[in-house]
Amino acid sequence: MAIWTPDLTGRTGPKYRKLADAIADAVAKGELRPGTCLPPHRILAYEISMSANTTSRAYAECVKTGLLCAETGRGTFVRINPRGQAQGTPADLYRPVAGPIDFSSNLPFPGSSGRYLAHTLGELSRSRDLQAFMDYQKKPGLAHHLAAGTDWLAGMGVPATAGRTIVTCGAQHGIMAALMAATRPGDLLLTEALTYAPVMAMASRMDLKIRPIAMDENGILPDALASVCRSHPVKAVYLTPTIQTPTTATLDSERRKAVAGMAKTYDFILIEDDVYGPLRPDVKTPIAAFSPEHTVYISSTSKCLAPGLRVAFLYAPEKLVPQLSRAIQLSCWMPPPLMVEIVSQWLADGTAEKLKTLQYQEAAHRQSMAGEIFSGQAFRADPCGFHVWLPLPSPWETHDFCRAAADQGIKLAPGSLFATDGRNDPGAVRISLSHEPDRERVRQGVKTLAALLQLQSPQDGWVI
Ligand SMILES: Cc1ncc(COP(=O)(O)O)c(C=O)c1O
Repeated sequence: MAIWTPDLTGRTGPKYRKLADAIADAVAKGELRPGTCLPPHRILAYEISMSANTTSRAYAECVKTGLLCAETGRGTFVRINPRGQAQGTPADLYRPVAGPIDFSSNLPFPGSSGRYLAHTLGELSRSRDLQAFMDYQKKPGLAHHLAAGTDWLAGMGVPATAGRTIVTCGAQHGIMAALMAATRPGDLLLTEALTYAPVMAMASRMDLKIRPIAMDENGILPDALASVCRSHPVKAVYLTPTIQTPTTATLDSERRKAVAGMAKTYDFILIEDDVYGPLRPDVKTPIAAFSPEHTVYISSTSKCLAPGLRVAFLYAPEKLVPQLSRAIQLSCWMPPPLMVEIVSQWLADGTAEKLKTLQYQEAAHRQSMAGEIFSGQAFRADPCGFHVWLPLPSPWETHDFCRAAADQGIKLAPGSLFATDGRNDPGAVRISLSHEPDRERVRQGVKTLAALLQLQSPQDGWVI
């Protein structure tokens, strides 16, 4: 049997560190499954042309961090709960690796941000007076945090300046702050006909009227937007133009420019939620670049670095900066400076790039796996995205399909969850490939769904 060998390409640092990182990534991706016995360190050393001391040091490092356990006379194994046991971390901080296969939420692919965090916290505690991060901050945030955010936004193609950069506790908080800043109860908010569900809940809590804009497979139809704007006073429009939730569509430049033009003509604030933008190596020019005085552009670190950081950067039109700053103050006073410091360090020391690359690579792998299994089936996906949008062939109804999948131990997000008007069932499901730690479980889950699609109807035996 072929022995497991690590992928060391593109890794930096001393050799033992490269190997330890490769082991951790293989565990995170499910290539090395819990309970797997690693090759004896001398054999691995021979296979990958390292010294036995180096492989032994890498194994020892992984044992120290709780990823592996060494059993005298038996070998070195991947821990059953690899990340938790050594530190006694509560089990509910981890994504389950058994039980139902969870395709229902768009978490980032499991990665190695925890290991980078350990390193960064160590460095921070040695290099800075941490007391500085424990105080209330003077608004609008520490200068070097705003500078880091401004560089990040500029990298996304936004005409950013420190005076227009605002830090929030994630994109969700950014959307809420933008709605607080741009609208009043009773105002009209437009969204794509299928959209990120929490926005509907926020609009309802803020007493906003909400209306859908018609879409095709490439995103919203500018003519449909213009038609609503001509007949109603529109205050704000919320869009996810890149790898749209849930349809995966990315709006082309022509439509982006058309939307920007309408924001100026009809004087609404566009809330451009670009949470998935940083996942694409080929950055698309954001709508904010075409209508900088009418767009709140939101870019989060959640999907490409780690959602637990709760850090997003907003670009704001000049006229909205005071209201947005006030909304941040009222909702949380300030994002925790320690978290923004971690992000700033990761942007400066290259960690952010490494983590993004891991997300691209895992997305490419899982999307191509799903694409092969679904071949011959109509579905939509983006090679850099976390999810697949699967229109259901007749006579499947969304509800029956989700129930049949649940009977097979698979959790899905029904398309109706995303319908702005709350009534239209798009007859499709969103399949998030990113939540499950183990690639093999993803493969099994997608295969089960593909088999389910082949059935003519729920009466064929899957559902009772
Ligand atoms: C479209 C969209 N916007 C915003 C968010 C929230 O992101 P954050 O974790 O930065 O608050 C999500 C998370 O799933 C999302 O899918």
